[in-house]
Amino acid sequence: MQTLLDFTRSVRDGLSKPRQRELPSIYLYDEIGSALFEAITFLPEYGLTRADERLLRQYAPAIIEHLPPPVLVTELGSGSGRKTRWLLETLARREPVSYYPIDISPSALAKCELELAGLGAASIVGLETSYLEGLRNVASRRRPGQTLLVLFLGSTIGNFDRPAADVFLREIRQCLQPGDALLLATDLEKPMAQMLLAYDDPAGVTAAFNLNLLARINRELGGDFVLRNFAHEARYHKRQRRVEMHLRSKRRQSVSIREAEFTCTLRKDETIWTEACHKYRVEEIPGMAARAGFVCEAQWVDSEWPFAENLLIAAPPAATS
Ligand code: AVJ
Repeated sequence: MQTLLDFTRSVRDGLSKPRQRELPSIYLYDEIGSALFEAITFLPEYGLTRADERLLRQYAPAIIEHLPPPVLVTELGSGSGRKTRWLLETLARREPVSYYPIDISPSALAKCELELAGLGAASIVGLETSYLEGLRNVASRRRPGQTLLVLFLGSTIGNFDRPAADVFLREIRQCLQPGDALLLATDLEKPMAQMLLAYDDPAGVTAAFNLNLLARINRELGGDFVLRNFAHEARYHKRQRRVEMHLRSKRRQSVSIREAEFTCTLRKDETIWTEACHKYRVEEIPGMAARAGFVCEAQWVDSEWPFAENLLIAAPPAATS
């Protein structure tokens, strides 16, 4: 769990970076931020969530065929749980299901529990904690013979840069036993204009989502950011293959944050980098999987919005040479 002290430190450290100031994207998701992200998922320009949901709805039976019962399901960053219901419903027709959503947002967890309560057979226990802490907790509750299915949907993996994604997948693998599964959703590369529009919608919902981070710093840490002096910006970084969200300072201005005992002066047009959303090629997933101790057993790709569900199965520990 992030405390106010963690938030204060991250803000101070991130805004002190000499070349590119930055703020960690996890702090976008306070109650307002989570509600704004939920609104983003309904925007016509943001096709990710609908693609994710279409794939889960269409291929849930094919996915669970790879998982020997009984299955224990957990989800990293469950959000509202809207996409997950298809998978749980399909599974519940086969066996009684236990589902452990893990999310740092209590409001998202509450929505998730409500959304999925109607599934009858499912027992649902929300864990308000970080991904790995939550996963270790779930792994400790498993009974012998259960298959653990970890859902990491929405292309949230894209928030990690590629080396950090490798590390994170390895950390997940360390919580699993051979035969356990990770269903990893990845947004795929597509024409640049389409990628940028998904992160800079004309109604300005994504701009509000981004700017809310400064508002949150004002609310929780006594910052004095003037939101109108900043502009939302989405950029595509070709070599890294990622969309970046930035907040551009429209003028030279000073900001201070009381709780962080921090003051700085931003140049005109200087940006604060707030999020990275990496885009993938289907062909790169099996390699990512293998480097982390998984086998990529199957991939399903949406035909409307390039997006993939990748089913990774935990491999036996490799013989070391
Ligand atoms: C929740 C991290 C998957 O990267 O597409 C949406 C977040 N940021 N619009 C993404 C986001 C701006 C989203 N993830």
